[in-house]
Amino acid sequence: MLELRNLHYHPATAREPVLRSVSLQLAVGEPQLVAGRSGSGKTTLLELIGGLADPDGGEILWNGERLDGRQRRWLCGLVFQFPERHFLGLNVAQELRLGQRRLGSDRVDQVLRQVGLAAISPQQAPERLSGGQQRRLALAVQLLRDPKVLLLDEPTAGLDWTVRDEVLQLLASLAQERALLVVTHEPELFEGVIKTGWFLEQGLLRPLTPLPATPRPAASIRTMPAEGGR
Ligand SMILES: Nc1ncnc2c1ncn2[C@@H]1O[C@H](COP(=O)(O)OP(=O)(O)OP(=O)(O)O)[C@@H](O)[C@H]1O
Ligand SMILES: [Mg+2]
Repeated sequence: MLELRNLHYHPATAREPVLRSVSLQLAVGEPQLVAGRSGSGKTTLLELIGGLADPDGGEILWNGERLDGRQRRWLCGLVFQFPERHFLGLNVAQELRLGQRRLGSDRVDQVLRQVGLAAISPQQAPERLSGGQQRRLALAVQLLRDPKVLLLDEPTAGLDWTVRDEVLQLLASLAQERALLVVTHEPELFEGVIKTGWFLEQGLLRPLTPLPATPRPAASIRTMPAEGGR
């Protein structure tokens, strides 16, 4: 269980705090999402959790133990928005090896299977993959270390709907064995996959209530119970 307790973050160059007091409990197998307007601090929140920055106040704990930045970088796999723009490898195998230098071909095959890329050649150039395959490859890079926490920044951005559904199904399966936190500006897409949603505004999280305009009420995002003890 990942726990955020009263996270406060106010970088010196920002006029207002980006995060005022953010608390969250994220259990394995129960993915959650954070929605919010552009500039509300979604990416910043992932960077703090993932150990790329340190909060100015509050705590980040894993199974009750407080973690420093280095421990969080080890614990978490963070996939940035449009990860395919940052591919460096000449082929799929090389891209995976950049993530972890000493990597046997067994592990490469295993992780490609895990993300549903078993059928592609490890010699294939990453830029020749489809949009959905590229997202899967970016996930595979993070999965190599088998992180207990997966942090995904806008995982559906820029994907067309057929590919998007594929990626959502993959996230649902990866969430079964990991703590998974998605930040997105399109929370309605995650209905059916993620049941607990939050809205980040002015540095605070509030439960995300189902959007009135959502045409599928049966599978709408549920809010966390007010006294939610998970
Ligand atoms: N280190 C920093 N120094 C100054 N300002 C910062 C720093 N980190 C974040 N911010 C500010 O925090 C705010 C939130 O940025 P962030 O990128 O987290 O938003 P976001 O919700 O991810 O937006 P988007 O939906 O556009 O991706 C921005 O105004 C940004 O300038
Ligand atoms: Mg962002």
